[in-house]
Amino acid sequence: MPSFWTINDEPSGELLYNSAWGAPARPDAAETAGPVKLPKLSQWAEEQFNFKPTTIQKRVLDTGTKRLILCCNRQWGKSTVIALKALHHAIQHPNSSIVVISRTERQGGLLIQKAIDFATLTGRPPKRVRGYEHSLQLPNGARIYAIAHSTQSGPGRTADVLIFDEAAIVHDTVFSLALPFVARTGGAVWLLSTPRGQTGFFYNLWHDKDPQWTRVLSTVDDCPDIPKEFIELHRKGAPQLFRQEFYCEFTPAPGRLISRERLQQMYDPSLNSRMLPPLK
Ligand SMILES: Nc1ncnc2c1ncn2[C@@H]1O[C@H](COP(=O)(O)OP(=O)(O)OP(=O)(O)O)[C@@H](O)[C@H]1O
Ligand SMILES: [Mg+2]
Repeated sequence: MPSFWTINDEPSGELLYNSAWGAPARPDAAETAGPVKLPKLSQWAEEQFNFKPTTIQKRVLDTGTKRLILCCNRQWGKSTVIALKALHHAIQHPNSSIVVISRTERQGGLLIQKAIDFATLTGRPPKRVRGYEHSLQLPNGARIYAIAHSTQSGPGRTADVLIFDEAAIVHDTVFSLALPFVARTGGAVWLLSTPRGQTGFFYNLWHDKDPQWTRVLSTVDDCPDIPKEFIELHRKGAPQLFRQEFYCEFTPAPGRLISRERLQQMYDPSLNSRMLPPLK
């Protein structure tokens, strides 16, 4: 076995070819003939899958931004919308590589399963990427696959799109090790989550002023399908969690005595350690 297998375990038809497994998957002739140009995503989703996006979902589907943060309530449709975006990209970019990271590989697999379902509906029954349980490979060679939430699965990969689902619970080290996947490809990074506490890269990037990120905040008020009675039920049960889950508030983690906002209010930048008298 060539040594690069252990260094670079990026799933690609070439690198992972092993005669014992049979011939590597090859794109269909129809899709290797040339790049496919699909309609605008929201239009494609409606025509192909009868998916009727809300106004904000439509904007998310159609934005071409390379740095996207979706901060949305539970059951907003984050994974569905991003699965559609990933598939739309994969169909139009032969041999592209889209990596999904979540707190567990299985969690990432939920988003991928949606992409598999959509791909099948378009008449492109995908194959699995060899060695990746939660994955799909289209006839054009494009791959969407989930990797483990682990510092071990960092080096060796390159991606055209890097997706963090439930980003607020992905560890900072995993984020930092995975981000270089797009360093040379100019690839996109899409973060999607409901808030979880007041620390971590999702919290930081959301609150940062860096204009390269497109930030989308959308709450349960934008989900006409979620019944009002259900919202009230949740509101009365656990008010703080309700504000987090359905109104996307970055509330302090349970057990924290003091919120980040309160700490910031207490901090006086004019007080500087250099002004303190020297220790005797
Ligand atoms: N525009 C829409 N029309 C109809 N159904 C929708 C729409 N958007 C989302 N849904 C449905 O809402 C449900 C939740 O979608 P999805 O799992 O993508 O949400 P999520 O925000 O990722 O949820 P969670 O916070 O639980 O991860 C799914 O059944 C999905 O099909
Ligand atoms: Mg989801």
